[in-house]
Amino acid sequence: MALAGKNIVIAVCGSIAAYKIASLIRLLVKADAQVNVIMSKEATAFITPLTLSTLSKNPVLIDYYQPNTGEWNNHVEIALNADYIVVAPATANTIAKMANGLCDNLLTAVYLSAKCPVLFAPAMDLDMWKHPSTQANISKLSSYGNILIPPGNGELASGLVGEGRLAEPEEIMNFLVKFSAQELPLSGKKALVSAGPTYEAIDPVRFIGNHSSGKMGYAIARQLEILGADVTLVSGPSSLKAPDRVHTISVTSAAEMLNACETYFEDADIVVMSAAVADYTPVEVATQKIKKKENEFSIELKKTADILATLGAKKREKQLLIGFALETNNELENAKDKLIRKNLDFIVLNSMQDKGAGFATDTNKVTIIDRSGNTNEFSLKSKEEVAKDICSIIVKLS
Ligand code: CTP
Repeated sequence: MALAGKNIVIAVCGSIAAYKIASLIRLLVKADAQVNVIMSKEATAFITPLTLSTLSKNPVLIDYYQPNTGEWNNHVEIALNADYIVVAPATANTIAKMANGLCDNLLTAVYLSAKCPVLFAPAMDLDMWKHPSTQANISKLSSYGNILIPPGNGELASGLVGEGRLAEPEEIMNFLVKFSAQELPLSGKKALVSAGPTYEAIDPVRFIGNHSSGKMGYAIARQLEILGADVTLVSGPSSLKAPDRVHTISVTSAAEMLNACETYFEDADIVVMSAAVADYTPVEVATQKIKKKENEFSIELKKTADILATLGAKKREKQLLIGFALETNNELENAKDKLIRKNLDFIVLNSMQDKGAGFATDTNKVTIIDRSGNTNEFSLKSKEEVAKDICSIIVKLS
């Protein structure tokens, strides 16, 4: 989620719509944002600082100094620490002050000190909203690079009906999520990730599979989403929870995985195939459970399609294609061969000789090899950290 970890200052002005800010703060805190609230004195008549400090989990600041301790609330520091400032509800009065550089309270002083994006969500009666001076102030704020979250149309506190209603908390939240996503390095990019094992049915109760947990692929899908990509994860059987905000498609066999990957490949800008796909599948799947009879028993197998190589053959110039190689011997040589053979941009090599690397562990030790033959050897790390390393190369190449 684009807002996770962001420091968001909510500047609340004196409007009846201030009550809506309680819900907005809850939504932001739920999205793992850090929320700091500043209020004008007038705002405290409409909603209590206690409500907003409890919901935001941070003290609410109103004055230049704390009345009890006399401690100074450093407006410059508050502004510089913020990733975004959201003035909501923004009254006609505060909008006018912001447009003209007045700073007669902490809220406007923080605004004037800000270097981060400032968004403002007006709330006022329809005639105040329509007034040419308000409209001129809003144009002025837009010309300074401040971002307007447009008011809604509907019933107003005055009983009149028209434009001027504070945007609903969900609308402000969606606006912020979209705004923040635009700033992420992979925003606007579509990513396709494969993960986990595949199970190749032998009969209704048995299959050929492997020990892949899906952890590496899920971590990559999560990281790509954090970086702003629109991610589709094609997962073989795995006990892991589908990552939030990732379009997850569950498949069982290699043939199903190929089918799903081919469907999403066309539109994908970034493709990471980390699944441990079965290389062979039974020629025939018994319709009934196979009974034990003879001492020796064999199953005829045929090769599955190599999904990565199939996609590599179709790859367009602008698409990034990344594969994995799990090797036990001649690691570098084999991985380089796969990189070329499958037409990849880079390959992530796990050596089975490295302790803590490979299947079903929480850690991995990888070497990344690119098309120019550059090799980058990483230390043993958690799979989340390895995913970050892989994704930072993806960001550089995107
Ligand atoms: N892969 C795939 N489809 C397959 C087999 C592998 O998409 N049927 C992908 C994996 O997701 C991985 C890469 O190919 O990204 C390497 O897989 P690996 O099994 O290590 O290599 P293979 O090409 O199967 O070669 P070998 O078994 O000889 O090592």
